[in-house]
Amino acid sequence: MGGTRQAVLVILCVLRTVKAFEMEIIPAERIVAQIGGTLILTCNTTGCASPSFSWRTQMDSPLGGEVSRHGTYSTLTMNPVSIVNSHSYLCTVTCDERGKKEKSVKVELYSFPSDPIIEINPSLVDGESATVICKIPDVYPSDRLEVLLKKDEHVLHEKNFFEDESTNTETKFVTYTYHPMAEDAGKELTCVAKLPIADMDFEPKERTSSQKLNVNFGPQNTVITASPGKSPMEGDSLNLTCVTQSNPPAQIVWRKYLAEESIQHLIKNNVLFIPHVHFNDSGRYICEVINLVTAKTEEATVDIIIQGAPVITKFSIEPSTTVQEGENVSIQCSAESNPPPKIILRRKSDNADIGTYSARSILLPSVMFQNGGDYECVAENKYGNSKREITLNVKYGPKSTVITVFPAALKEGETVTIKCTSSGNPAPVISWKKKKATGESEKISENATITIQNLKSQDLGLYECEAYNQFGKEEKAVELYVPARLEGPDQMIPLIIAFSSVAAVAVPAVAILIYVSRQAKINGSYSLVKALRLKV
Ligand SMILES: *[C@@H]1O[C@H](CO)[C@@H](O)[C@H](O)[C@H]1NC(C)=O
Ligand SMILES: *[C@@H]1O[C@H](CO)[C@@H](O)[C@H](O)[C@H]1NC(C)=O
Ligand SMILES: *[C@@H]1O[C@H](CO)[C@@H](O)[C@H](O)[C@H]1NC(C)=O
Ligand SMILES: *[C@@H]1O[C@H](CO)[C@@H](O)[C@H](O)[C@H]1NC(C)=O
Ligand SMILES: *[C@@H]1O[C@H](CO)[C@@H](O)[C@H](O)[C@H]1NC(C)=O
Repeated sequence: MGGTRQAVLVILCVLRTVKAFEMEIIPAERIVAQIGGTLILTCNTTGCASPSFSWRTQMDSPLGGEVSRHGTYSTLTMNPVSIVNSHSYLCTVTCDERGKKEKSVKVELYSFPSDPIIEINPSLVDGESATVICKIPDVYPSDRLEVLLKKDEHVLHEKNFFEDESTNTETKFVTYTYHPMAEDAGKELTCVAKLPIADMDFEPKERTSSQKLNVNFGPQNTVITASPGKSPMEGDSLNLTCVTQSNPPAQIVWRKYLAEESIQHLIKNNVLFIPHVHFNDSGRYICEVINLVTAKTEEATVDIIIQGAPVITKFSIEPSTTVQEGENVSIQCSAESNPPPKIILRRKSDNADIGTYSARSILLPSVMFQNGGDYECVAENKYGNSKREITLNVKYGPKSTVITVFPAALKEGETVTIKCTSSGNPAPVISWKKKKATGESEKISENATITIQNLKSQDLGLYECEAYNQFGKEEKAVELYVPARLEGPDQMIPLIIAFSSVAAVAVPAVAILIYVSRQAKINGSYSLVKALRLKV
């Protein structure tokens, strides 16, 4: 038993002593590190209980990292890896009883951390040159950098930096003057950056960036289309559509020239929609398009003529439909249509051939009551006509007040009817008075007609008729008397002659009556008819 234990111990001792003192650096081969990244070199040993480590660069430059000891291995940590780490690193291990060993490893650096950045300045405008810049950040070694600028598959520009003397990372720029065209819009601009170092093992060796080309252009070829057409019928709907070529899309402003040449701002939309057109929608419409990026504007215009039967837009009487005689009156009719309407403005009661005013307005200076009545305006064209009526009401004071006596020759005992008529607007109020022998007047009737039955001598005298309305009054009188020549006693039945006379409103009625009576007597006239002709 004891013999076997010893044998095992011996074997174990042999195994231990057989294990050789070795070292290695991990990673072992060429190391390619990205600047800015982290690199840990491990110097590992076997076969040595407590090795001591030393790290050096071949040039004895600073290590550019942190060394840390962990029993049988040591690490050199470079965080971040920088240009100073571009060296061969040597790890030397000393093991007391077994001497020393060393190994080196070469650290190679590169930097290609991000995709190129494309910048276009200013923004692309058709026909204006722009600068395209492709920026490749933090490249190392830049003397290996190759850059390609492409429009879709077409190479626009190539550049390499072989002349560079790169000692550290550098941001590289490739600039290209580009003349964009409208048809380039939507194509792809690509910047390809390559760092083709075949013997260095890193990925990627090529980086690309693309940008869709946005070529600003226009506005151009601006046109307006009118649906259903440029001459729609009154009441139709009308769409005016403004189409333009522009990138970015243009802003659209619709305007319309008004008669006074002022401008009306309408909507900001490419379709101007009028659900029901009226004649006053005729006119010139302007679509103004603005591209805010290219700072260009363009205009298109369309002349719209609304067709249809006339519409009377105004039929009026100035100063009012109710006027007083003597006022200056104008009657106006206006109508809209296309083709232009023929307008007939006339008084309805007149025959078509008299008093037809084919004008659009009638002037009645110092209007007379005869001008009153219903007026009509007819506007017509090939599509139809329209008609309107208006009443002119001329107010005037009483006039043409007339007294009639029936029968013309009167005898005592007969029935006599005396009637007073007068015109005026509003209709005058008629009242009768009788002048007594004392000279006083007595109101005898509010009726236009007075009837005296069984005529007697006390019915003789002056009968005064007054026609009155708010615009004035007119008086007339008639006298019933026995003419002088017949006043003989031989005359058994006296004849009574009716004698009428007039009094103007402003003049004392009595004076004129007397005058007229006298004159009639002097003339020795018995005739009622003749007497009536003496009206003042
Ligand atoms: C060192 O080497 C031994 C044997 O090859 C291995 O088992 C150990 O993991 C290594 N240590 C390090 C830190 O690499
Ligand atoms: C005008 O446009 C509107 C809506 O956009 C449509 O409903 C209508 O039918 C169009 N009218 C014409 C005459 O084109
Ligand atoms: C155009 O005519 C219509 C109907 O006749 C009317 O309602 C509208 O106010 C008029 N518009 C203008 C601007 O005169
Ligand atoms: C009517 O017009 C005439 C001349 O146009 C003018 O002299 C007169 O004063 C006017 N009359 C009234 C009542 O306005
Ligand atoms: C006026 O006439 C009406 C009817 O015509 C009559 O009733 C009335 O009595 C008359 N008035 C006078 C004062 O004669």
